[in-house]
Amino acid sequence: MRKKIVAGNWKMNNDLDASIELVHDIILNIENLALDNTRVIVAPTFVNLHVVNEITAHSRVEVAAQNMHQATSGAFTGEISAPMLNNININTVILGHSERRTYFGETDEKLALKVATAIAHDLDVLFCFGEQLEDRKTNNHFKVVETQIKNALFHIQPSDFGLITLAYEPVWAIGTGETASPEQAQEMHAFIRGLIKNHFGNEIAENTSILYGGSVKPANAKEIFSKPDVDGGLIGGAALKADDFVAIVKAF
Ligand code: PGA
Repeated sequence: MRKKIVAGNWKMNNDLDASIELVHDIILNIENLALDNTRVIVAPTFVNLHVVNEITAHSRVEVAAQNMHQATSGAFTGEISAPMLNNININTVILGHSERRTYFGETDEKLALKVATAIAHDLDVLFCFGEQLEDRKTNNHFKVVETQIKNALFHIQPSDFGLITLAYEPVWAIGTGETASPEQAQEMHAFIRGLIKNHFGNEIAENTSILYGGSVKPANAKEIFSKPDVDGGLIGGAALKADDFVAIVKAF
């Protein structure tokens, strides 16, 4: 059975004190929930990864990095490598977030390299992709998503695909307050699962979690998560308040 996942992407928010407080609150509030088959993940900034990971050590909460470089070491000022994440016991990395694509020039080709490096270092990958508003208006959203997935993920050996979690995040819904309707999310998620099935086979497709991201809040999470091909959410703004994030976890 594929995993349900609620992941909070803290982006460039929360200093050390705020990160410690937030993760403590989350741990405390999910401690007594029956969370069978559900992973709860938070992704702090690099500078706070280690501390937050140590705090979560004996809890249900897992910690992910927001990005990583494709090379394993070298002269790449400002970057972080997969072995560095391994070294501080971080097991998951977010790759391909639309903000990385838009503001930091991450292309599908570069992401394919990052994905390969992450897999080589046994990191779970939360791989993000999604169309721009213009793509949807011109009815190109399926094609755009298909291209993003093919270019960055179809090189993966089927035996490694268990490390991949997909996160469909329509760019027009990220941080805008505008959410894809549950029907739009389901339609796209079913399409994505079909792509994975055609290339990697039915078993892998059925076992791959596909998250939705883009203005998920306590008020809309339950309806979105009720769709059969939506296996959880990647949460931005609402992940910065323990109450909201925990309410979204509870929506399962
Ligand atoms: P949002 O961000 O929930 O604030 O829309 C989602 C994301 O960027 O992953």
